[in-house]
Amino acid sequence: MPKASTMAAPPAAEQRTDSLEITDSRTGKSYDVPISEGAIRAADLKKVRTDDSNDPGLLSYDPAFLNTAACRSAITYIDGDKGILRYRGYPIEQLAEGSTFLEVAWLLRHGELPNQQQYDQFIKDITYHTYVHENIGKFLQGFRYDAHPMAMLNSSVAALASFYPSARNIFDERERNISMVRLLAKLPTIAAFCYRHVKGLPFVYPDNDLSYVENFLSMVARMSEPKYQANPVFVRALEILFILHADHEQNCSTSAVRAVGSSHVDPFSAMSAGIAALFGPLHGGANEQVLRMIEEIRSVKNVPQFIEGVKAGKGKLMGFGHRVYKSYDPRAKIVKKLADDVFDVVGVDKDLEIALELERIALSDDYFKSRKLYPNVDFYTGLIYRSMAFPTEFFTVLFAIARTAGWLAQWEEMLLDKEQKIARPRQIYIGSDERPYKSSIEHRHMVGPRQQKDALRQ
Ligand code: CMC
Repeated sequence: MPKASTMAAPPAAEQRTDSLEITDSRTGKSYDVPISEGAIRAADLKKVRTDDSNDPGLLSYDPAFLNTAACRSAITYIDGDKGILRYRGYPIEQLAEGSTFLEVAWLLRHGELPNQQQYDQFIKDITYHTYVHENIGKFLQGFRYDAHPMAMLNSSVAALASFYPSARNIFDERERNISMVRLLAKLPTIAAFCYRHVKGLPFVYPDNDLSYVENFLSMVARMSEPKYQANPVFVRALEILFILHADHEQNCSTSAVRAVGSSHVDPFSAMSAGIAALFGPLHGGANEQVLRMIEEIRSVKNVPQFIEGVKAGKGKLMGFGHRVYKSYDPRAKIVKKLADDVFDVVGVDKDLEIALELERIALSDDYFKSRKLYPNVDFYTGLIYRSMAFPTEFFTVLFAIARTAGWLAQWEEMLLDKEQKIARPRQIYIGSDERPYKSSIEHRHMVGPRQQKDALRQ
């Protein structure tokens, strides 16, 4: 029963809202900017302005969003200093221990774990939609034999928009539902088709008797056997890896999905923006780069020299560092343990020693300690994927399958958030003032890349 109306009004001091007092040294004026949920609203800074009638008001400048919250979200919580990650309040360690990926996908979207009936229906829906239109297969066959699977995945997911034009009705809940189910259901199929295309193998169609992960492995690895029997340790390992990668609040790809989705484009196009962002080596592409780095180091004895190179600015220690985690990434802890489970089955990866030595040296070196650089989720995943016989280029595709669950939940949260509008950051213009057009080409100066860079530095 609501009690608020019968309660006495709180004393005036309690009603006081927190605020930030700003004094503008240009004008001597002071402003009270309200603080709510640990943030000020950047739009409130607009009222801080000089007497110049053309002054649009104060901007906040935050390249790469180092300290800007772009949304309020109830999906994922991270405490980077304490190494905490929770989906909808549930610790990642407990979800990884007890859940399935599809349960987690449901949780991310709906805010609660599914009950039996909801879970059964969800699995039925996903299973029903695993097939892709035959033309998607033909589309994939148009790629070169050595096409990167992330490029193939990205374009195929974007192409899905052309197969489901009604998905553009994003404010129709039924359309959103079916699009979200289709994306979760078809991602493993398209990913497996990308794998088979590169290998020159025929596509394997979904086997709807199998679980989500088993079916994916079947589409990747089945040859002439009538029924694919996946190794149960691999199935559980992949299930856990999918759970760990399912969401990570406002990272680069999720921000891309939200920004692109804010134009009210269909979800297939928005997801393909997420896949594109994930492809980059600083983001999901790092798992591929970790393995390439380890292969390049070749031997444990070369690790100290490699670390010295990193410290001298010759490259990064891939799989280390994170914008938010300033202590051990909780996902990396789980992955390290998982690696042992997988190695128990297939034998220890030949390069594990190099990874362990990189970690040991980095964790005791001042360069990394002072910058709070710890292993992130991508550091050990590559070794697990390789032990499961996935090719290096395919690692980020596995990440993308899992992150689709998070992208979808975040996309819908953004759409239903009344405060959200089309994403449109501001800029500080540093270019030329107005000047007359030079019609005669002979009178134009040569502008080289160095001059352009100098202009940006000013
Ligand atoms: N190796 C060596 N130095 C590093 C590294 C690294 N991996 N990461 C950061 N630094 C240094 C960086 O050079 C800078 O030093 P200085 O203060 O002397 O200029 C300092 O640490 C702060 O780094 P930053 O670039 O300001 O940090 P950021 O928050 O912008 O970048 C990051 C975060 C993840 C992009 C970066 O740590 C990185 O490039 N790591 C390697 C790539 C990687 O593993 N990415 C996967 C991230 S986790 C999964 C995911 O998101 O997909």
